[in-house]
Amino acid sequence: MHEGLLNFWYAVEHAATLGASPLQVTLLERQFILYRDGSGAVKAALDRCPHRGASFRTGWVEAGCLRCPYHGWFFEGDGRCTRIPADQPGVPIPAQARLSMLPVVEASGFVWIFPGDAAMADPCQIPAFPELGADGWRAVSGSYRWDANFSRVVESGLDTSHAPFVHKPFFIHRDDAAVAPIEVGEDERSASCLVRTKPPKRLGLLKYIVKRDRDYSSSRLTCYFPNVNRIAIDFNWKGYQYIYFASNIPLSATETLTKWIGVRNFLPQRWADRNSVRNTVDTYQEDRIVVESQDKSLSWDRAQRDLLLSSDQLILAYRKRMTALLDQR
Ligand code: FES
Ligand SMILES: [Fe+2]
Repeated sequence: MHEGLLNFWYAVEHAATLGASPLQVTLLERQFILYRDGSGAVKAALDRCPHRGASFRTGWVEAGCLRCPYHGWFFEGDGRCTRIPADQPGVPIPAQARLSMLPVVEASGFVWIFPGDAAMADPCQIPAFPELGADGWRAVSGSYRWDANFSRVVESGLDTSHAPFVHKPFFIHRDDAAVAPIEVGEDERSASCLVRTKPPKRLGLLKYIVKRDRDYSSSRLTCYFPNVNRIAIDFNWKGYQYIYFASNIPLSATETLTKWIGVRNFLPQRWADRNSVRNTVDTYQEDRIVVESQDKSLSWDRAQRDLLLSSDQLILAYRKRMTALLDQR
């Protein structure tokens, strides 16, 4: 894939998943190790020991240092090796005995790493998720994989016209699928639009909490470049909303791992979590069938020869912006 893709922040793990043990993640065909130091602060490094190349996956954290599982070397949070158990006392530690550390930030429910040129790693680029942890909002989370390029996965979350065809259980208006004109809003790090549809069929718990006779339902679809989707569904009933926030992690050109968090401001009870998770996973299963059937190169490559129409304007904005951003990186 394009080398310039390294110069972005990526949410690679749910912050809550990273506990006391080091955790390996894959991003753009490279392996990285995440861990928490003695103070609980998150650290990230290329997952390769400078001694003989072992992974830290089965290593551990001791006295705030990351320890290699192979010969037990100690690494400080800045990457320096400070102790080599096999050396006699007093033997100096070579300067090259150092991990390649990465910029890392814990924010918006995730651990974010910047795998490219650290000088370009401005944490202000990381999208906020203000509803997460706020009063009245309940969160669920999960992950799923796609045999697809991440750009196609992102675009499935920006697609305003597929719902009546792909998500039949919810959207029953196949004969009335015209998309109203879309107004795309853009800034340096995101593109979004508001989509208004007929109210979808109420399934699961929605049957009991959303009134039947409301006129419409709306969603704000947002992409934070290069790989985060935010889908805010407004049921237009008592202010009830469900917001899906997902990092579509490019493992390689042909594999994507989505780590998502969903928040709702209705039915705050734990027993209702299952319903939120099921609706999200069912939607993924429906999308997966079509998304995995698409070409596996970056969607904005000219070779794709896609024919984008006015109902695809948000996708077009995403492709234009990604092309421009990659030209700069
Ligand atoms: S490979 Fe890590 S200490 Fe030897
Ligand atoms: Fe979809």
